[in-house]
Amino acid sequence: MVDLGEKMTKNVISILDVEKNLKEILRIAGEMKKKYKNGESIRSLEDKSLAMIFEKPSTRTRISFEVGMTQLGGHALYLSPKDLQLGRGETIADTARVLSRYVDGIMYRAFEHEMMLELAENSSVPVISGLDDREHPCQILADFLTILEKKGNFNQKLVYVGDGNNVCHSLLLGSPVVGMDMVACTPDDYKPDDEIYERALELGEEYGVNITQEDSPKEAVKGADVIYTDVWVSMGDEEEAERRKKDLMEYQVNKELVERADDEVIVMHCLPAHRGVEITSEVLDGPHSVVLDQAENRLHAQKGLLFELLG
Ligand code: CP
Ligand code: NVA
Repeated sequence: MVDLGEKMTKNVISILDVEKNLKEILRIAGEMKKKYKNGESIRSLEDKSLAMIFEKPSTRTRISFEVGMTQLGGHALYLSPKDLQLGRGETIADTARVLSRYVDGIMYRAFEHEMMLELAENSSVPVISGLDDREHPCQILADFLTILEKKGNFNQKLVYVGDGNNVCHSLLLGSPVVGMDMVACTPDDYKPDDEIYERALELGEEYGVNITQEDSPKEAVKGADVIYTDVWVSMGDEEEAERRKKDLMEYQVNKELVERADDEVIVMHCLPAHRGVEITSEVLDGPHSVVLDQAENRLHAQKGLLFELLG
């Protein structure tokens, strides 16, 4: 494994926390994946422990981090707030200070970004976001690894269709860094956060890529190499479910929409998917879909990240 030239920032809460190392992490993740498939083991995190606090449910994040730590020779602990004293009023700051005395890193899936920041401020070991209401950086590492594997480069146009949520935010901030054009296609009331979009525009100029917004999915997907969607009702938005489903219906990724894109378009979804809502089963299970590779790549991408942060 090659050493990263630039020292990584201690915490990975935004995809921009790995701005300088993004391509190198993807390269290392690709190497780790190859070695894993060849049956070679890399046990560079022996005796290392990762605490994983989940305020919300998870299939992929939990399992890929836990298995990833095991494969690297380390150990992961699944911690739910209701089993921690956190659930009885101990603060997130105190929890961070105490965990820092036991473990080598903390992965946190939080409802609120502010809680993520508070945990990070009080932790003396690296903090990795497993999603909050602002971003989902580890997902985007896996997504970029998948795009690279399927397309060979980032000279692509990614069109995100649906709710301008945490996943959309990380894609907006990450796409310029790898040199990929991106269109965020959302209804007016579901646009990405202004501050994040402004930052993405600045990064677009800096890296020489086009970052745009578009209202019409039919227009947006013209020439798309990648169509990406995510749930319309994110964890924490459940009370708005009915309104969201009504407002976003026109943004469903279905066969008719996919047919307007490039013939070789790949369709991505971070999962879990709601079949027949933001995406049809026909597309999710169809020839353009790469969603299972994306899910698998959570494991390999995060192993690359863990190796760099904790190794
Ligand atoms: N994509 C993703 O983060 O899935 P989980 O919610 O299952 O972890
Ligand atoms: N936007 C979704 C992503 C789930 C992995 C959510 O926050 O629930």
